[in-house]
Amino acid sequence: MTATIRPRRRLHAALTAALALALAGCSADKYPNTIFERTTEFNREVLSIFHSLFFWSALVFVLVEVALVWVIWRYRQREGAPAPKHVHGNTTLEIAWTLIPAVILIVIAVPTVRAIFRTQAKAVPGALQVQVIGHQWWWEFKYPQYGITTANELYLPIGRTVNFELRTADVLHSFWIPRLGGKRDLIANHTNYLWFTPDSVDVNAFNGSCNEYCGASHANMRFRAFTVTPAQFEEWTIHQKSPAVFGAAPAAPATTAPVTAATTQGAAQATAQGKPQATTAATTPATAPATTPAGAPVTAASYTGFTADKLPAYTVPTMPIPDGISFTPGLTGDAARGQQVYSRSACIGCHTIAGNPMSQGIIGPNLTHFGSRLTIGAGLYSNDEQHLALWIKNARVMKPGVIMPTLGKGEFDPVLGTTLKSGLSDQEIADIVAYLHALK
Ligand code: CUA
Repeated sequence: MTATIRPRRRLHAALTAALALALAGCSADKYPNTIFERTTEFNREVLSIFHSLFFWSALVFVLVEVALVWVIWRYRQREGAPAPKHVHGNTTLEIAWTLIPAVILIVIAVPTVRAIFRTQAKAVPGALQVQVIGHQWWWEFKYPQYGITTANELYLPIGRTVNFELRTADVLHSFWIPRLGGKRDLIANHTNYLWFTPDSVDVNAFNGSCNEYCGASHANMRFRAFTVTPAQFEEWTIHQKSPAVFGAAPAAPATTAPVTAATTQGAAQATAQGKPQATTAATTPATAPATTPAGAPVTAASYTGFTADKLPAYTVPTMPIPDGISFTPGLTGDAARGQQVYSRSACIGCHTIAGNPMSQGIIGPNLTHFGSRLTIGAGLYSNDEQHLALWIKNARVMKPGVIMPTLGKGEFDPVLGTTLKSGLSDQEIADIVAYLHALK
């Protein structure tokens, strides 16, 4: 017996080693969206099925090819050789080649069905609940246990199971963070679930995307997922739950603060726009420097989220600015003025900013802590002054098909096919940028 088992074990080991070697080429450094990682139980489950399937398919392939080549060689045409014997109607052979595939199918089916039941089971009680709502073309994330609504940037505590409740506000979408797990569809009138535990990750950032065609900007429906320490996550939730720091309703006579806030922001953005940091994951918990606007009542310890300097290069947007759109260079915005312009513009019809009673819209992303987000337009551009100004000026040029209207005076709206006779001036847009960036 051992004589037959040993070669099989050796073959198994050799194939696994070859596979491991091949997959090493798919490492996260070179391929930041690789699925060959063991970061969650979901990924591990899928990967183990993949490995076992790969082993069995490789084995079948090798055996069949060897048999084929042997038959071709053995029964090749030779002078004087008799014609090979025909074996049609050989019952033993026919039973064998019916049974073998059946056994192979069972070998594949058992772990697959088991994995389906495991991953489709209800998440453990006490899991972090995250409602994911797909919109054309952005992601709304709600944390009902914490009363938080945010967009396009997902924070997940390391080691805690997260249960995603997947829904859509319009058409079909599909949620996927390749290195953590997924993908699962967001379907109209039906809630899908997906859960996993990011238990084998460091503090890191991952790319997420929509994977079901959903219209013109399907490819521009991206998001980022951040795995943070449980302590950072708690601080993040406390920060997110609070109203926007700048210009919150009963704000004291803060007329000088906004300008300083805007300038600080500008400087921070300038550094952020420099060379992206090394791709290595930040292994130490990022003790975030509290980038509070001047005099803002945020404690020094509070973690407001990932900072641009901690972003791995593969999560930094590289989308070029489309042709035909520009912004007056050198304009300095005023956050207090920006708040006034914002609060009397179309913006408030679609966006909510907790702390700004005028801004209660729910069509677009919640902007309460917009200043601490790293990207805009659903992960499409960096959240810096230039990109944000262009976005406000003409979002429909920056991202095809978006619902957000063209707002810049004199701009051509590609959806309506008209040029705006009235609208926001570049100075007004710069002011709104300063205001939004002050919303840490
Ligand atoms: Cu949403 Cu594709």
